[in-house]
Amino acid sequence: MSDAVTEIERGLAALGESFQKRFAEAQDEPALRHAKAEVLGKKGDLTAVLKRMAAVPPEHKKSVGERVNEVKASVERAFEERLAALHRARREADLNAPPFDLTLPGRVPAPRGHVHPLTRVRHEILDIFRSLGFEVAWGPEVELWENNFEKLAFPPDHPATDMQDTFWVRVDGGAPDAKVLLRTHTSNVQVREMSTRKPPMAVVSGGPVYRRDDDVTHSPMFHQIEGFLVAERVSFAELKGVLTAFAERLYGEGTPVRFRPSYFPFVEPGAEVDVGCVFCRADDGSRPACRVCKGTGWLEILGCGMVHPDVFRHTGIDPETYTGFAFGLGVERVAMLRYGIPDIRLFFENDPRFLAQF
Ligand code: PHE
Repeated sequence: MSDAVTEIERGLAALGESFQKRFAEAQDEPALRHAKAEVLGKKGDLTAVLKRMAAVPPEHKKSVGERVNEVKASVERAFEERLAALHRARREADLNAPPFDLTLPGRVPAPRGHVHPLTRVRHEILDIFRSLGFEVAWGPEVELWENNFEKLAFPPDHPATDMQDTFWVRVDGGAPDAKVLLRTHTSNVQVREMSTRKPPMAVVSGGPVYRRDDDVTHSPMFHQIEGFLVAERVSFAELKGVLTAFAERLYGEGTPVRFRPSYFPFVEPGAEVDVGCVFCRADDGSRPACRVCKGTGWLEILGCGMVHPDVFRHTGIDPETYTGFAFGLGVERVAMLRYGIPDIRLFFENDPRFLAQF
């Protein structure tokens, strides 16, 4: 008998049924797989035996090979049986364990989220105008130069149209002479609504606008609310009435309001509206020290005016029959005044320590 055959016989005898005990002792799947590797793995006992097969003389190969394969098969079988038994036991334990109630609330309560302060102020402002009879419309943030400037009667060389102020957009495959930009104000909604509908109309719209500005009170992206009303015989008196009602609803009854002449190309006459400083109004004599209104007692909140006849002409409305007013205001400014926020950039950094305060 060759040495190889003797060695293999001895190896198989040494292994014997020991694997049965080793598998039975494994209490979980990783332990069982570890035990299997000790027999059939690269450095396993049976693998060592198998390696000697090459040296077995041809006349013994068949019988020895069969014996080895039998042992190998019984190792595999024992492993599979023990694995199935472990799985069964595991499932049995799960079923016998106290029931797990998926509907119980978590132990750590999930913090409740809320809308962003700017969203809240925007909704509040839109709600005030809705309650005054305005309907809400929408306009795009990427806009044609015509709708943002030209039809609003901006002269072509007006400084606001300058590259300094406006973000221009290149449209691949667009018409070569199309001038496209990120809207610099929400007044584009005036052009779009007036061009597509017949008066009377009372509309508000709100959303992001973009300008090349960046400091503590200016952000390159900010939000505006636009409103306008077009009908027969609308006068500046209605404009004053609506905006005074708005200021009182936003800042409280009796809020002082003043209209200061101002210039916007698309209104005539134009005005800026100030409200009595919400920070020092109630104080007696402390006004000179107020940092928010710089001691003036007034805060500017919006621009407004009577719709310029050119805007009506550009949008297909007869300026002999109709008149109207328009106004625009910055949402961040209202929110900063409302909550006493010193830096506009806080709105956009999304720091939870800031947002959690609202
Ligand atoms: N669009 C103007 C701005 O962004 C505001 C405005 C709107 C002024 C409507 C008058 C009428 O400054």
